[in-house]
Amino acid sequence: MFSKFYIFSLGLALLPLVSAEIHDVNVGSKGALSFEPEALFAQIGDQVVFHFVTKNHSVTQSSLASPCGLKEGGFDSGFMPVALNQTDNFPTYTITVNDTQPIWAFCNQAANQPSSHCGAGMVFSVNCGADDAPNSFKNFKSSALAIGAKLKETEAASSTSASGDSGGYGGGYGGGYGGSSATGTGSAPQASSTQASGTGKEIKVQVGPNGDLAFNPPHVSAAPGDLVTFTFQQKNHSLVQSTFDAPCSPKDGGFKTDFFAVTGNETTLPSWSLPINDSSPVWIYCRQKVPKSHCNAGMVFAINSDESSPKSFSAFQKVAEDASNSTASGAASTGSNNGAVSSRGLTISFALVIPVLIVSLL
Ligand SMILES: *[C@@H]1O[C@H](CO)[C@@H](O)[C@H](O)[C@H]1NC(C)=O
Ligand SMILES: *[C@@H]1O[C@H](CO)[C@@H](O)[C@H](O)[C@H]1NC(C)=O
Ligand SMILES: *[C@@H]1O[C@H](CO)[C@@H](O)[C@H](O)[C@H]1NC(C)=O
Ligand SMILES: *[C@@H]1O[C@H](CO)[C@@H](O)[C@H](O)[C@H]1NC(C)=O
Ligand SMILES: *[C@@H]1O[C@H](CO)[C@@H](O)[C@H](O)[C@H]1NC(C)=O
Ligand SMILES: *[C@@H]1O[C@H](CO)[C@@H](O)[C@H](O)[C@H]1NC(C)=O
Ligand SMILES: *[C@@H]1O[C@H](CO)[C@@H](O)[C@H](O)[C@H]1NC(C)=O
Repeated sequence: MFSKFYIFSLGLALLPLVSAEIHDVNVGSKGALSFEPEALFAQIGDQVVFHFVTKNHSVTQSSLASPCGLKEGGFDSGFMPVALNQTDNFPTYTITVNDTQPIWAFCNQAANQPSSHCGAGMVFSVNCGADDAPNSFKNFKSSALAIGAKLKETEAASSTSASGDSGGYGGGYGGGYGGSSATGTGSAPQASSTQASGTGKEIKVQVGPNGDLAFNPPHVSAAPGDLVTFTFQQKNHSLVQSTFDAPCSPKDGGFKTDFFAVTGNETTLPSWSLPINDSSPVWIYCRQKVPKSHCNAGMVFAINSDESSPKSFSAFQKVAEDASNSTASGAASTGSNNGAVSSRGLTISFALVIPVLIVSLL
């Protein structure tokens, strides 16, 4: 006979430090009708801080189905006017990411008018779907632009209607741009002043083909304006920006994707795209550590590495692999970003107490 006793014992393990990150977003920088960055990825508990740096904008929650309409019960910063001569102490509004669901938002200025900011594409999201998913940021923004086009059409049709004042702060923004140094910490796709033009080519990269802990090709060259699209082939990988010197640690202010798990029976593979803004090298690794560190296994990737310099792709990969000899594998530094302190390295740190459930089967 077989009798079972489950003994549950509640242990308390103190995790080192779990950091909730703060993601900075500039609203209307340089007078543009845009959020910068316009899409980012965040973890539960992270905060997104909106800095209103010009004009008179809002950040208002909407939905994928209705990009320019206030979501029932959603958040709304209200209008945040910024004087033309204001160069600092910009108003801010903060939201907390409570779950992994996508968050959709827009600027509510000039709502339902031809000059609607949302209709001009002034939309934003957290944790949107992959580029080829129905809930991609691209699809969301396209719907917003379509609404804008329709509002303009309607006005053109009834051409008698009045001016259609923008409702924003008129005129160009004169002063220096105070907020540009905020680069957003952590996983956000990083704000950059040189926007990808979108006129470049798309460079395709396979992540983990044939189950290998590798990228194919292992490194690429890309020009500003190009888009590097990663397609996840197998297993459960992620992409994190690092630095040459610390290949397996997140770069301060760099990008970081979620894990993309592929079971093998998908009809479309998940993908993620990175716009290239300049010709500087971009170093990337997979942060999967189960059952072993993918980075230490050499699962790293480079864009625009200089193959004739000491900072070549293979040198980078070698540092990643060597890192496994010096650090206890699997338990690599979680919170430390290699000592680099960003201009806005604010993190909320709190110790997490995790009940450990020990189940003994007798
Ligand atoms: C901006 O201009 C307003 C009105 O002209 C003035 O009252 C205010 O002091 C100025 N603020 C700054 C920071 O210069
Ligand atoms: C997260 O939860 C808080 C408290 O319920 C709420 O005020 C806030 O709007 C939520 N954040 C989002 C993005 O919905
Ligand atoms: C900001 O925009 C709102 C909505 O259009 C408007 O009601 C408000 O007066 C504006 N504020 C300023 C200071 O222009
Ligand atoms: C280029 O700029 C975009 C938009 O600001 C950003 O999302 C992306 O991460 C940047 N690319 C790189 C390689 O940093
Ligand atoms: C993917 O890997 C992450 C990190 O190890 C893990 O949390 C997640 O559950 C995995 N997803 C699947 C579907 O296996
Ligand atoms: C894919 O395969 C897994 C495991 O074999 C199964 O649990 C899952 O239901 C399958 N998904 C689809 C969409 O068929
Ligand atoms: C790391 O370990 C591998 C295999 O165990 C070895 O070949 C390599 O030389 C080691 N690297 C360093 C820096 O010790």
